[in-house]
Amino acid sequence: MQIFNTVAEIQQYLNECRSKNAAIGFTPTMGALHEGHLSLVRRAVSDNEISVCSIFVNPTQFDDKADLDRYPRTLERDGAMLEGAGNHVIFAPSVAEVYPPGLDTSHGVDFGEMADQMEGAHRPGHFDGMAQVVKRLVDIVQPNRMYMGQKDYQQQALVKEMLRQLDYKTKVVTCEIIREPDGLAMSSRNRHLTPDERESAGHINKVLRRLKEVAEILPLAVAKAQALEQLRHIPGAVPDYLEIVDAVTLKRLDNFEDAQSVVACTTVRIGKVRLLDNMILNE
Ligand code: PAJ
Repeated sequence: MQIFNTVAEIQQYLNECRSKNAAIGFTPTMGALHEGHLSLVRRAVSDNEISVCSIFVNPTQFDDKADLDRYPRTLERDGAMLEGAGNHVIFAPSVAEVYPPGLDTSHGVDFGEMADQMEGAHRPGHFDGMAQVVKRLVDIVQPNRMYMGQKDYQQQALVKEMLRQLDYKTKVVTCEIIREPDGLAMSSRNRHLTPDERESAGHINKVLRRLKEVAEILPLAVAKAQALEQLRHIPGAVPDYLEIVDAVTLKRLDNFEDAQSVVACTTVRIGKVRLLDNMILNE
């Protein structure tokens, strides 16, 4: 496995790969890897000749400085896990390498209402920073395919919209959510939960599973109100939002008939940790 820290080095390597017609699969991450990340990398390895995984804790997408400082950095362990997953290239740049002074790294995309609700409403500036770094990384790696998790539902929808508006050729492959045995979506932030909080966190997904069943028989608004009430009853849990939206446009929905695919997205705060989960309701 190759490890590159500079743009010049990785571009030289990938240009050689491209000249041999190798397809490049790319998984952007912020490190502190777990099985969720590795599932994306394994898919990139199996779909492409070259799998590139970036590890970069992007300061511009953290609206909370304490969250940035607390973000786990486990590069050595991450490297061993990526090696085990058959990954070919790690790109672990510095902040100065990603955002060199004088380079325009703005994303220039208008997301409209797509970015204003749900995570966007609770984390001002987060999606601008996310889109900025993803565009920059795609410009550097120029992958044929990019692998993203359904877990961050709004994020992958915005990235698809960004690549559409920029008319980039990179295809986004959205991979299913990898969960702990009790249903909790794997996340680098789960390690900050106390044992009691961890126990509570397992109930979030149970509420979404119930919501999916109830939504088949009750109007969406009623099913949503019930689920929100159930989230509020989880010990120590404070839901930031629960929304039922069009899976592509992220517009709020009252009826299944108004969209081809419908997804319920929630973020619940337990202790200091914000936990994201979602479920496609009409699969
Ligand atoms: P990070 O939180 O490290 O996540 C990297 C990728 O792993 C994202 O696409 C995320 O959706 C996916 N992922 C995380 N947990 C998952 C799980 N349990 N199952 C499946 N996939 C999972 O998301 C980011 O980093 C950043 O915003 C980034 C896109 C790298 C830009 O900085």
